[in-house]
Amino acid sequence: MLTDKVDASLLQRCTRLRAISNYAVGLDNIDVEAATRRRIPVGHTPEVLTEATADLAFALLLAAARKLPEAIRAVHDGDWLTWEPAAHLGAGVQGATLGIIGLGRIGRAVARRAEGFEMTVIHAGPGDRPALAELLRHSDFVSLHCPLTPATHHLIDDRALAQMRPTAIVINTARGPIVDHDAIRRALIDGRIAGAALDVTEPEPLPADDPLLSAPNLIVVPHIGSATRPTRERMTELAVANLLAGLEGRPMPHQANLLGPSQSGP
Ligand code: GLV
Ligand code: GLV
Repeated sequence: MLTDKVDASLLQRCTRLRAISNYAVGLDNIDVEAATRRRIPVGHTPEVLTEATADLAFALLLAAARKLPEAIRAVHDGDWLTWEPAAHLGAGVQGATLGIIGLGRIGRAVARRAEGFEMTVIHAGPGDRPALAELLRHSDFVSLHCPLTPATHHLIDDRALAQMRPTAIVINTARGPIVDHDAIRRALIDGRIAGAALDVTEPEPLPADDPLLSAPNLIVVPHIGSATRPTRERMTELAVANLLAGLEGRPMPHQANLLGPSQSGP
């Protein structure tokens, strides 16, 4: 699982290991290069979770825009006293600009949803600094869909946040460490951005007393991007198919590394 770290030192100790099958699309928990050097195939679960994860990204966008957590809390707390013209005012979504960082499978699925809301979609690769700066300056919503790599670690830091609009909302359904939590906590407290909605955090699980959780206009959910019944079933089937193929020396249905013509190890 994505909570299991499969690094070079583990691989070195697993002398009879023949196949790795990750129950996730992300591969940041696995040293794929070290596995490739040992001719161990690495499987993962792209495609089957694309739409569910895009749905959650959009759910977080709408929940943050319309301040759903505070509105729900108001009802439970008995603070719904009358219909107020200026209570719980959120951000408009129609016509707003959505900046997608990482236009892969999930990023494109989010862009498709945004079309239905008549949003203007702009995108940038995480390594494209000029496009990224432009995106941060112009986006009302910034949604992260890039993998976690050394290059994307703390991509959203003090400097990136300083380029954003004070009305901007950051959505992260990718990997927690892409966002510098200390920086985003301070930006939320100072009102330098309007909100953040995170499905992934650093660390995971995020302890209930983590300082981040005291920030205003923050939504955190516990890494549930792919958590629908049909998606988890399809992930399970794919992870098992990957594993069986790996053990039988066949190419996996979704293999992350290339081992050359003969899949079976030396
Ligand atoms: C979930 O985060 C995944 O990578 O599948
Ligand atoms: C809101 O409920 C309206 O009728 O405008």
